[in-house]
Amino acid sequence: MRERILVIDDEPNIVWLFKEIFGDAYEVLGAQTAEDGLRAAWDHDVHLVMLDLRLPGISGLQALQELKAQGHQGPVIIMTAYGEVKTAVQAMKSGAYDYITKPFDVEELKHVVQGALRYAKLTTEVTRLRQELEEKFRLKNIVTVSPKMIELFSVIERVSASDVCVLIQGESGTGKEIVAKAIHYASSRKDKPFVPVNCAALPEHLLESELFGYEAGAFSGARKTKPGKFELAHGGTVFLDEVGELPLPMQPKILRVLEENQIDRLGGTRRLPIDVRVVAATNKDLREEVKQGRFRQDLYFRLAVFPITIPPLRERKEDIPVLAKHFLKEFADRRNMAALTIAEDAMEVLVSYPWPGNVRELKNIMQQLSLLCDGPVISKRDLPAFLWDPDWPSHGSGILGQASVPAPWAELEEVLDDEAGLGLPQLKQRAWAAIEKELICRALAKFQGNRTRAAQYLKVSRRTFYTKLKEYGLG
Ligand SMILES: Nc1ncnc2c1ncn2[C@@H]1O[C@H](COP(=O)(O)OP(=O)(O)OP(=O)(O)O)[C@@H](O)[C@H]1O
Ligand SMILES: [Mg+2]
Repeated sequence: MRERILVIDDEPNIVWLFKEIFGDAYEVLGAQTAEDGLRAAWDHDVHLVMLDLRLPGISGLQALQELKAQGHQGPVIIMTAYGEVKTAVQAMKSGAYDYITKPFDVEELKHVVQGALRYAKLTTEVTRLRQELEEKFRLKNIVTVSPKMIELFSVIERVSASDVCVLIQGESGTGKEIVAKAIHYASSRKDKPFVPVNCAALPEHLLESELFGYEAGAFSGARKTKPGKFELAHGGTVFLDEVGELPLPMQPKILRVLEENQIDRLGGTRRLPIDVRVVAATNKDLREEVKQGRFRQDLYFRLAVFPITIPPLRERKEDIPVLAKHFLKEFADRRNMAALTIAEDAMEVLVSYPWPGNVRELKNIMQQLSLLCDGPVISKRDLPAFLWDPDWPSHGSGILGQASVPAPWAELEEVLDDEAGLGLPQLKQRAWAAIEKELICRALAKFQGNRTRAAQYLKVSRRTFYTKLKEYGLG
């Protein structure tokens, strides 16, 4: 679709001029009065309005306000005669994008018009992306049929509207982060940033500057002023992930920010007011951490104004089939393929497995299957053995059990690409072997080559471990 420019000017030759200059690239509409122009902007999707200030009837300034009032979102450029610049400036204050004086310099006109259209395109793009993001993290996109979760969501929906601190507790992989995002995107802060901070990722001194920012010269190396996460989230939400790992000395500093809604940049001389909502998450039992003296009670009470707990997957087994199908579809869509289906015997296995890595583990397994299964139906024998074999030395946490958490996708994809000539069963075998070998190497490295400890770590018997070492040429 060609972009549309609406020119509102009582002099017909101005409209004519626009058609001459821009008619090839854009669609140019003309209106000789503000009334006609407003109607045209209402009837057509107009990307840019060129508005004369001096019009018969309704003035240009009034027309500008009317345009905004009737919901026109694109840029409006004011056209003024020489000497009317003051009014033009006033128009800019009322929301005009720019102004240009008559008579036109054609090059300048082209430059201004093209710049405004580019700007319009970008703003629409930003709005679209924002809506997409919002859509993605809406509560209804969190897949569940569990009554416990649905109940939880009705509570979350209500709490999203207010500004209270929410503490999300739950085992690793239960969905704490997507719930935190859903809270943000369901709140009135949704158009402002959602800023995650992983409290476990940084040592104390770096965490402080990360959170609160610093002024130039605050320490050697601080050449430029840098805003902290709290500042960046102004108007939005800060997500304190793994808050249980927050170093003790940092805790009173966070508490102070929450109580006073102000931050101190490192090396700063004045306090900056901030407006953020805090959502925190942890997979630890924070109350227990408080008892043990590892977490301050006052901060705990401040964060846990509204505590919610996401149940582990094994306590909502009814979610396993819907989630499994959801992930298979998601991966299939991404590769433009038909989704695999799950045979009954395989589904039984999935439902009875305890999923120590929760939804994330299930998601990873579904991804592995999407890549490796000769499909279209996943049967029990397609599933990794640790899922269904109770004699597997490490039901749920063995060599491949561990692999299901930090999934080495890159390697799998590589195997598949490199050996595209092989049949899928062989590829599958190779891929599993590659993962197993990699895990064994990592375990050996972790314990400086101590095989007994590596075997213990991988939860397999010494004998199995030695057999595997030989098999992979590591012994
Ligand atoms: N109910 C759900 N519906 C759809 N996807 C989900 C659901 N729960 C979790 N997921 C997906 O599972 C993965 C893990 O979720 P998330 O990162 O939110 O977990 P977490 O509790 O923050 O884990 P960790 O404690 O390890 O940080 C993500 O890819 C997330 O999108
Ligand atoms: Mg997380």
